Amino acid sequence: MRSLLFVPGDSPRKQQKGLDSGADALILDLEDSVALDGKPQAREITRAFLEAARTLPRRPRLIIRVNALSTGLTEADLDAVMPGAPDAIMLPKSEGGIDVSHLAAKIAVREAESDLPDGATRIIPIATETGKGIFGLGSYAGATHRLAALTWGAEDLSADLGAETNRLESGSYTDPYRLARSLTLFAAASAQVDAIDTVFTAFRDAEGFRRECLASRRDGFTGKMAIHPDQVAPINEIFAPSPEALARAEAIIALFAANPGVGVIGLDGEMLDRPHLIRAQRVKARADKLAE
Ligand code: COA
Ligand code: MG
Repeated sequence: MRSLLFVPGDSPRKQQKGLDSGADALILDLEDSVALDGKPQAREITRAFLEAARTLPRRPRLIIRVNALSTGLTEADLDAVMPGAPDAIMLPKSEGGIDVSHLAAKIAVREAESDLPDGATRIIPIATETGKGIFGLGSYAGATHRLAALTWGAEDLSADLGAETNRLESGSYTDPYRLARSLTLFAAASAQVDAIDTVFTAFRDAEGFRRECLASRRDGFTGKMAIHPDQVAPINEIFAPSPEALARAEAIIALFAANPGVGVIGLDGEMLDRPHLIRAQRVKARADKLAE
């Protein structure tokens, strides 16, 4: 999944637009983009959309962002959407492996009730929205086989910290958020799942958005969440391996295959050894997956 587009759960109009956006996944939101009074209606609208959208021959993955476990709203969210067989549940304000295990148990019950295959519904936590969440990042590895990816959030984290802002005037994140971003990459590698970059809220700033996507790809994120349809095409382009990157990866793989038993080789004046081969194999695997 390269692009994951947030769509408010109470907006059939945006949900319909989301389907045409080209996003790899839609995140149908029951949390922060829906006012408290609107939650029951948003659940109904989202459930109806899920049921219609999942039968389409070509469709994005359908992910539901439920309300955080601490709100007391999560159960009703799951009751409403699980019969619609979402591909994944996104858990906001997740504080570690215990939270996703807890959610996994709630999902398992509802899969059984709706005659869905056990384990079909994946989990994507937003893992850095609270100070406590930062300390739970190392506990996702092995917590549940449902874990599909990890992502992070800077907006709620700044609220939890009482910060004035999370970005410098230059647009780059201040230190606490740079740390949270980096720790998310380490946590995802440790749990052996993809790291998905967080949203970029200034949705008219196309240039700043591109810069941020390029920096995320550089550092190892495999995709990014979007809040506006205009952000989808740049994400899809930037997070797909370029023809040049793929050609280089294939050349490295071929070189090692042609030299079995060799640990280190030179190519175009560069030393290549095992980490370079692994990196090339990951690029190739991503390209193959996208081609499917
Ligand atoms: N998904 C699907 N369609 C969207 C969309 C989204 N996230 N954001 C905007 N659109 C649609 C609009 O409805 C509009 O279509 P219309 O003119 O046919 O109604 C079109 O795209 C252009 O929208 P635009 O006028 O540029 O933006 P806006 O002012 O209407 O909306 C936001 C701005 C931020 C309110 C909107 O982008 C949004 O709701 N984003 C998602 C918010 C969210 O889910 N946040 C939670 C996670 S942080
Ligand atoms: Mg939030």
